[in-house]
Amino acid sequence: MTRATQAARVATTPAPADEAIVRARGLVKRYGRFTALDDVSLEVRRGEIFGILGPNGAGKTTLLEILEGLRAADAGEAQVDGLDVRRKRRAVQQRIGVQLQATTLFEELTARETVALFASFYPRALDPDALLREVALEEKADIYPQLLSGGQRQRLALALALVNDPTLVFLDEPTTGLDPQSRRLFWETILRLRERGKTLVLTTHFMDEAQTLCDRIAILDAGRVIAQDTPAGLIGLLGASATIECAVGASATGQPPVGPEEVRALPGVTEARAGTERLLIYTEQVERTLVALLQLATARGATVEHLHVHAPTLEDVFLKLTGHALRE
Ligand SMILES: Nc1ncnc2c1ncn2[C@@H]1O[C@H](COP(=O)(O)OP(=O)(O)OP(=O)(O)O)[C@@H](O)[C@H]1O
Ligand SMILES: [Mg+2]
Repeated sequence: MTRATQAARVATTPAPADEAIVRARGLVKRYGRFTALDDVSLEVRRGEIFGILGPNGAGKTTLLEILEGLRAADAGEAQVDGLDVRRKRRAVQQRIGVQLQATTLFEELTARETVALFASFYPRALDPDALLREVALEEKADIYPQLLSGGQRQRLALALALVNDPTLVFLDEPTTGLDPQSRRLFWETILRLRERGKTLVLTTHFMDEAQTLCDRIAILDAGRVIAQDTPAGLIGLLGASATIECAVGASATGQPPVGPEEVRALPGVTEARAGTERLLIYTEQVERTLVALLQLATARGATVEHLHVHAPTLEDVFLKLTGHALRE
């Protein structure tokens, strides 16, 4: 490559800093002596769906509220569009939409009246009917919130987060408590918003939601970001092409049971661990590992039960990184 073409390449590659709409560095939040966030740094890029994935109490809501400028951190800094979320709070509020973990709706206002009320808080707001269409609630415009289903209520809450036509939308566990069909409907709405150029930051404790919906994910555990990447990048951390789950029964010949240490030595295995009732084996050569595992069990007179092979998931990544399952 000549010097000139090299220079041209450099010139056309945008600086990574320009892509970030949210930038947080070294965030710390303490409640008394308890540290809820411990040195959290992350970057959300423009136009992506960014997921904050973590178990109950991981600090997801605390982190979101700090990024929204609603809660002060004890240390560190957070910016939206290059603006400090506390010092430039007003300007930040105009750019963001917020759906809290629980939204209280007025029983005496219909869906349309609710959206119209929220719209009246802003000098520049979208048309209530257009917003209801956006979240697929146009047919429920004249219904009172208590008559809406859980999924419809969540979509109404999303419409409220969109009234000021924000470029950046924060959603705190938007699909918790929804049935699978309502979750899918909600996902479709979120994907449509991304298509229209919005950036979305959402928290979830659903692995499948993070994996299918999010462009990038920060995994939060006990107040720390333990990994941040695309779903594929995170799964790549396992260095395995398949996960084998099984239960190895007791040896009929009185020999020691087959444990993770022994399994790690089998061909193809990159990692093995004992789960609550199952053995979890990560492998890059699934056939060879399976054959060797069955041979080992047979030699011991032990049975292999509940055998299940699947593509590695974020659940596996979480377990590898934290040593515990997400829903423990
Ligand atoms: N105002 C507060 N005072 C004291 N402790 C708090 C306060 N708010 C949160 N915490 C604690 O901080 C930790 C993180 O809470 P947070 O609500 O951020 O978790 P989360 O990841 O959103 O959990 P969930 O999935 O249950 O919503 C929890 O242990 C919680 O008890
Ligand atoms: Mg929460």
